Amino acid sequence: MSRAIGASVVYEDGTTRRFSDVGAALRETDRGRVELHYRYDAAAVPATRDETRGLWRYRALLPVEPGPVRYPLPVGDTPLVAPPQLRRALSVANLWLKDETRSPTGSNKDRATALILQHAMNEGIDTVSCASTGNVAVSLAVGAAAAGKRAVVFVPTGVAEFKLRLMLSAGATVLKVREGYGAAFRLSRQAAALFGWCDRNTGVNPFTLDAKKTVAFEIWEQLGRTVPDAVVVPAGDGVTLSAMAKGFRELVACGVARRIPRIVGVQAEGCQPIKRAWETRSTLEPVRPATIADGIAVGTPVCGPVAVRDVRESGGSFVAVADAEMLEAVQVLAIRAGVLAEPAGAAALAGLERALAAGLVRANEHVVVLITGSALKAPQHLVPALDALEIGADLHEVERALSAYVQ
Ligand SMILES: Cc1ncc(COP(=O)(O)O)c(C=O)c1O
Repeated sequence: MSRAIGASVVYEDGTTRRFSDVGAALRETDRGRVELHYRYDAAAVPATRDETRGLWRYRALLPVEPGPVRYPLPVGDTPLVAPPQLRRALSVANLWLKDETRSPTGSNKDRATALILQHAMNEGIDTVSCASTGNVAVSLAVGAAAAGKRAVVFVPTGVAEFKLRLMLSAGATVLKVREGYGAAFRLSRQAAALFGWCDRNTGVNPFTLDAKKTVAFEIWEQLGRTVPDAVVVPAGDGVTLSAMAKGFRELVACGVARRIPRIVGVQAEGCQPIKRAWETRSTLEPVRPATIADGIAVGTPVCGPVAVRDVRESGGSFVAVADAEMLEAVQVLAIRAGVLAEPAGAAALAGLERALAAGLVRANEHVVVLITGSALKAPQHLVPALDALEIGADLHEVERALSAYVQ
């Protein structure tokens, strides 16, 4: 592997060891959390927009081997939307939505999938596997199909029906695990080790963190190479959140930013183990998830303690939101910003409203809300505010219908 110039492994007992051989560090993923390091200087960050598309622009800060990128799907470069109506509705003049729903399979998981499949293509690895609450598996299934690889995905039996259909349609081998996501995660780790597959599991494969950190680089660039005051991020396993923090930390390490933003983590009221650990300053207690937001329904988060550390170090906070608030946020995003999000994908907007009410974010600050997953994969959660009117093919009927709509 190139680019990464070293790695540290943080073992379960909290001790850390540095490795200069990244391969050796990766072999430790069963015993600890691996973090990749690079040569940090201003030259590592692209100075201008160039020909290179998507997250590959940041390859000096990614574990990407030299040579052309072979992964075929376009990933990264998602829009940073300045939504005028939403800004007015929330009275936050400098609000942006980082819209990850525009990724190839409609979620931020496509960043990690791309980096791992690029690696698999370079190394001639045949099978890539993971556990997933839904979106990671769809992302891997579709990405593997595009890359000519085999995907084996482990999902909870209760996985959303439409996401399951997408995985199967893309030809993935899908195994539904009766005991839920936590058990699926452990089982997929064991199976990958036994069968020699590339383990794409979020958090334990350090590529996932590094791919997702590129969203911070893009936000910084899209804001004219400046850092916002706060970034609001949903948290399930906590990898998306920690990746955001790592991305901004690396910009500071490269000398192109002076500080990182406050990070506000958002969990579901029915599944908030990371928020609880942050609040009580105690170890993370696993919970049984009870939320419609499948993406953040993670009872034993892989990156939970790291997410707590990252939020604390950023001066940020956690909030929890009810399912009803997420559904409301789904609707608000659609109507006021034209962004179609699933509940977990809209959680951060619901979280922003909570954070504003609690004074954790101020209305005069520069705030970025991360929208992580598309409603197009979760249509069951779309509750239209109005019903359609049926008419005959007649202009008078159009006129009558329009006046009815106005009322
Ligand atoms: C739409 C969506 N949002 C947020 C998350 C949470 O990301 P993480 O597990 O990295 O915290 C997920 C994870 O699957 C997701 O699918």
